[in-house]
Amino acid sequence: MSDLEALKKEAAVRAVALVDSGMRVGLGTGSTAKYAIEELGRRLAGGELSGIVGVATSEASDVLARQVGVPVEPLDPRPLDIAIDGADEIDPRLNLIKGLGGALLREKLTEVQARRLVIIADHTKIVTRLGEKAPLPVEIARFGFLSTIERLRELGLGGRLRQPGAQPYLTDNGNYIFDAQLPAAFEPEEMQRQLKGTLGVVETGLFLGMAERAFVAAPDGVRELTR
Ligand code: A5P
Repeated sequence: MSDLEALKKEAAVRAVALVDSGMRVGLGTGSTAKYAIEELGRRLAGGELSGIVGVATSEASDVLARQVGVPVEPLDPRPLDIAIDGADEIDPRLNLIKGLGGALLREKLTEVQARRLVIIADHTKIVTRLGEKAPLPVEIARFGFLSTIERLRELGLGGRLRQPGAQPYLTDNGNYIFDAQLPAAFEPEEMQRQLKGTLGVVETGLFLGMAERAFVAAPDGVRELTR
């Protein structure tokens, strides 16, 4: 395991220590959230935890959870005690960009119902302003996607349709993703409002005011950040 992977795992283990028996837990998506799901499985198998119910934020996390013995249920209107997930960028207010892994819609639907959203990441995800390093993933309907992209460009957003191969990337929900380049200065809440008001936009990877804390692993240890 590389140093960076070891750091991600360390952050995940710290977050899973907040999970108690009987909790309903939102299971994030991505290479860091994977370690949290595995740690939950390990603690269930070892008897340190019992009665956990997971709600997966992607097909991939659902499969992994079942593989490691974490029971999974679909999202229903009941609150979740905690959700643990990675992020692509974390700003000083713990506002986030998420969705480089493509799971932003299910992540937001799930994590908005969590009493606590705990973010796990390595130190490379820390930024002073959102959009510094990562594009903003915007999930858009397939139907009329070129028109939607035109509308996004009219908002002043650069960027491109996510297309790793011959075909555009398809989310678990059957939508496309436009990876938007954010302007150097913007107001996150206003950007979210504008994007959600754009016909064809399903959801954005801006997670504003949602995260309660973040465990960020760096070579000199895990830092716990709160809002
Ligand atoms: C998934 O859609 C994303 O929101 C991930 O949570 C995010 O991309 C972080 O992934 P890594 O932990 O793999 O960097």
